[in-house]
Amino acid sequence: MSEKHLNIDHVSMVFDTPAGPFVALDNVDLKMDEGEYVSLIGHSGCGKSTVLNIVAGLLQASTGGVILDGTEVDEPGPERAVVFQHHSLLPWLSAYENVELAVKQVFKRNKSKAEMREWIEYNLKLVHMEHAMNKLPGEISGGMKQRVGIARALSMQPKVLLMDEPFGALDALTRAHMQDSLMEIHAELGNTVIMITHDVDEAVLLSDRIVMMTNGPSATIGEILDIKLERPRNRVALADSSEYNHYRAAVLKFLYERQRNPESGGAASKPEDERSGDEARPLQMVTGVAAA
Ligand SMILES: Nc1ncnc2c1ncn2[C@@H]1O[C@H](COP(=O)(O)OP(=O)(O)OP(=O)(O)O)[C@@H](O)[C@H]1O
Ligand SMILES: [Mg+2]
Repeated sequence: MSEKHLNIDHVSMVFDTPAGPFVALDNVDLKMDEGEYVSLIGHSGCGKSTVLNIVAGLLQASTGGVILDGTEVDEPGPERAVVFQHHSLLPWLSAYENVELAVKQVFKRNKSKAEMREWIEYNLKLVHMEHAMNKLPGEISGGMKQRVGIARALSMQPKVLLMDEPFGALDALTRAHMQDSLMEIHAELGNTVIMITHDVDEAVLLSDRIVMMTNGPSATIGEILDIKLERPRNRVALADSSEYNHYRAAVLKFLYERQRNPESGGAASKPEDERSGDEARPLQMVTGVAAA
């Protein structure tokens, strides 16, 4: 067994469907170091969320499995916090109370009330939300709700932060601010991160490695790109960096070639209209504008 921190070990996933078994993932194998930031990128419907949900323990792999620090993952747990594309805050609770719910669940036994309050406020400060912590989700913007969702995930002190297109629903400017905050937080906390994105610039800016998936069915890892840009990273300075543009071009090349010639990934492409309705959407490749 690998001694890596997080081991996605030869994972395959077959869904039972009315039309028979559907092989979504075939032999996805990825080892991650502690503190590593990995982005998953690939065409809509290839299986990115399925990988993330297996790591989260929300789905069980058909074969293979996930091992975190030597323990096999077989159910959801606070050491693997998930942030989804659309916030999942409880609308009748304030930002503070939404984070509190998670903190109580994890730290009820080993933090006093005062310590919990301090910890909740610390996490809301990390995402620059301390000024609005008493507001309800309905009283704050989409970007702010997403910040609270990230604070809630971080407040559980997860070993692994799993994010499924966390900024996909945000406008370009808010998205850029969120990416910068996330880079700061990651530098400070050093969580291991797996983030799904459709945004090539976001992937290059934030990641240590970009894992590019082939088209499904039977999707797997097509290529892995090591991003050796020094940290801290500055988006404005990087825009003119030949190294940055080289990485960006490499990801675009992979995605365009797979789209034109899916068989080069060893798997046939599934037509867009056969995919699960709300999942199917075009790949947002170039700008920072959120995918529709
Ligand atoms: N519960 C399920 N039952 C049957 N098929 C499923 C199920 N969940 C996902 N699939 C199929 O598995 C494939 C991978 O789905 P998944 O949601 O992981 O893709 P994705 O890469 O996250 O796509 P997107 O970028 O659109 O979010 C798709 O063809 C999808 O229709
Ligand atoms: Mg998805």
